[in-house]
Amino acid sequence: MSKFYIETFGCQMNAHDSEKVIGTMMASGYTQVETPEDADFVLYNTCSIRDKAEQKVYHRLDQFKKDGGKGKRFGVLGCVAQQEGEAIFDRAPHVNLVVGSASYSKLPELLVKLDAGEKRVTGLSLDTDDTFETPLTRRDNPHKAYITIIEGCDKNCTYCVVPFTRGRERSRTADSVMQEARQLVDLGYTEIMLLGQNVNSYRDPSPAGWDFATLLQRMGEIPGLRRVRFTTSHPRDFVKDIVDAITENPVLCNFVHLPVQSGSSAVLERMDRLYSRERYLECIGWMKLSPRDIAISTDIIVGFPGETEADFEETISLLDEVGYTSIFSFKYSPRPNTGALAYGDHIPEDEKRRRLLILQEHQRGIQIALNETCVGKTEEVLVEGFNRNTSQWIGKTSQHRTLNFVHSSDENLMGQYRTVRVTRSGPNSLAGETVSA
Ligand code: SAH
Ligand code: SF4
Ligand code: F3S
Repeated sequence: MSKFYIETFGCQMNAHDSEKVIGTMMASGYTQVETPEDADFVLYNTCSIRDKAEQKVYHRLDQFKKDGGKGKRFGVLGCVAQQEGEAIFDRAPHVNLVVGSASYSKLPELLVKLDAGEKRVTGLSLDTDDTFETPLTRRDNPHKAYITIIEGCDKNCTYCVVPFTRGRERSRTADSVMQEARQLVDLGYTEIMLLGQNVNSYRDPSPAGWDFATLLQRMGEIPGLRRVRFTTSHPRDFVKDIVDAITENPVLCNFVHLPVQSGSSAVLERMDRLYSRERYLECIGWMKLSPRDIAISTDIIVGFPGETEADFEETISLLDEVGYTSIFSFKYSPRPNTGALAYGDHIPEDEKRRRLLILQEHQRGIQIALNETCVGKTEEVLVEGFNRNTSQWIGKTSQHRTLNFVHSSDENLMGQYRTVRVTRSGPNSLAGETVSA
């Protein structure tokens, strides 16, 4: 029997795609192994969001280049596969399979072609209305499950490759999403994360025509489901109904990831983000007015072409104004096919690095202050791990903070919900102890 190894790069969409690919491979007669050395077939599910991410896969492939891969097969999946297509064979001649994320449903037939002796097999079509759903998915975590609700992206942010690597937006029917969620609850999952590049533009293609806020409400009513999360939200399509749904139902976690990219309306315009700083702050205002105490996180790009010092200062002031509980921050990375390549005024690498450090240091101060306000409070956590070195359990709060805690008895808490009193805080996590029942 053939053995495969898979390594996954990139976002949660990719992580979940890998869970589907693993299930599909196993149904095709392959078994999964833990190292590339043990495998006959080595798969990389790739990301091309920034140049560094793209280079990672070539580094991996180069390790096997010398002797043609020692009789192994190699497959490149995901966003680099879609972006580079057959050019991957030129760069890494020992690769046998190149498949973009819109073609995973074809994986079984592509594997048959390989077995029939074809040396180079591709699945690169992007013109599909289908979403890739399969009952074969092998989920990695027994308590928290991903569900894809929408694939692709119809926005055109001028820095971003995703519209080229994942194709047009297509939503799953609400029926199939709800059915999968109920099945997962029956299997013992208590937390569900709804996935899409832009979940807010979800629209049920069946006559019921639910929008995203309606889907959230209905998900929140599934008996036995304790937590629902979602990512990613685009500010342009973020509506107050989403906040209202969160306000009304504690099953919907009080945490929203709302990528802003920049605090300057001029930069947002050149990014073609379709909103201004003011419109973004309006969305934030809805959340601040909610009695749920909604935690907000974001993504920031520094050093976008033409970003002045004054633009950058506006991003810093936005951090203060919003009070994010966490951020992901990146230096702008020029990407193939994207609109921003044509802009002048590229910012030197050193300057991007300087801005990134200032931004991260500033955010650290904000997080220290915000996390301090949690001390003395009690929080419900879902227990996700145990740290042997500190003998602490690792939990996540509804607001998506990490809360490390001690528990007096030696029972196994994995996957359980516990109430924890917060006793200490740091920039990136909280610490505490369970409250006795
Ligand atoms: N659909 C999501 C973004 C997915 S990509 C959204 O619209 O928010 C995740 C993050 O990567 C983006 O939010 C952005 O901050 C960052 N990113 C995307 N392209 C980038 C580039 N060319 N250079 C640097 N960061 C980039
Ligand atoms: Fe990329 Fe913009 Fe689409 Fe997000 S919304 S995936 S940043 S094009
Ligand atoms: Fe990367 Fe593709 Fe996700 S480019 S961030 S893996 S959609």
